[in-house]
Amino acid sequence: MPYPQTGPLRVELEGGALVLTLDRPERMNALSRELIRAVGDAARTAATDDAVRAIVLTGAGDKAFCAGADLKERQSFTKDDVRAMLRLYRSEFGALDRSPKPVVAALNGVALGGGLELALMCDLRVAAAGALLALPETGLAIIPGAGGTQKLPRIVGEARAKELILTGRRLTADEALAWGLVNRVGAPGQSAREVALQLLEPILRGAPIAQAAALEAIDASFDVDLASGLQLEILAYERTLVSEDRDEALRAFGEKRTPAYRGR
Ligand code: COA
Repeated sequence: MPYPQTGPLRVELEGGALVLTLDRPERMNALSRELIRAVGDAARTAATDDAVRAIVLTGAGDKAFCAGADLKERQSFTKDDVRAMLRLYRSEFGALDRSPKPVVAALNGVALGGGLELALMCDLRVAAAGALLALPETGLAIIPGAGGTQKLPRIVGEARAKELILTGRRLTADEALAWGLVNRVGAPGQSAREVALQLLEPILRGAPIAQAAALEAIDASFDVDLASGLQLEILAYERTLVSEDRDEALRAFGEKRTPAYRGR
């Protein structure tokens, strides 16, 4: 596997899903510089790795998905170090955000601050029943700096984003589900990783070029006006139209069988 086998990020391939596990349980999987870089590197490698059809991002243990910035590392930071960290969030979380493969955050416990922001970079989110989600930054006299102020309103709407960011209150998994902040919540005792892999089952059987084109077109819809977005949709459609998988879909329909997609 073209991924590091040691370090703060555990990487496993399960079926076509690359499972990335934030693995610093003694610090509630908090985001050190090394961990942030490892997430970005894995996302970049996975983007061109044909063995990877989708990515699951989760945390080690059952307490924390990620408790945000590593506040112990942060104690020795200068203000310029913090500024550099914000740039690192952009580049490394950005690699996950722009991934052409579907990315699911599996929130196995608390997702706080930068931890929740990391989950907001993913296409889909699922949570274990006991997970708690919050952006406590304004209570610490700062603001979310890893994309939270931009991503959260796009996902839950302006009013709810402002409530979460200004109050810092912790949402339960069920509240997050009601807000559309997570797509699914596990049954009591069910792991978030299991919920994520279940959600991915039909996606892993799907057509990779179509999925990448759909993600790109949807993501673009937040950045451009409607006319430009509709134009981008045509360009994205074109990529699917010339794919072998599109021909396979029509053939399989005619032959009354399940299509076998190859990502070509
Ligand atoms: N960075 C570094 N270490 C952290 C951490 C963080 N963000 N969050 C927790 N830890 C460490 C704790 O210091 C503790 O280490 P210690 O045993 O050496 O003291 C260990 O993880 C366990 O944390 P603890 O607070 O004892 O566990 P808990 O179950 O009572 O609470 C949290 C867990 C995550 C709710 C709590 O630790 C917390 O609120 N952390 C801060 C989260 C935060 O504000 N993040 C946003 C920053 S903008």
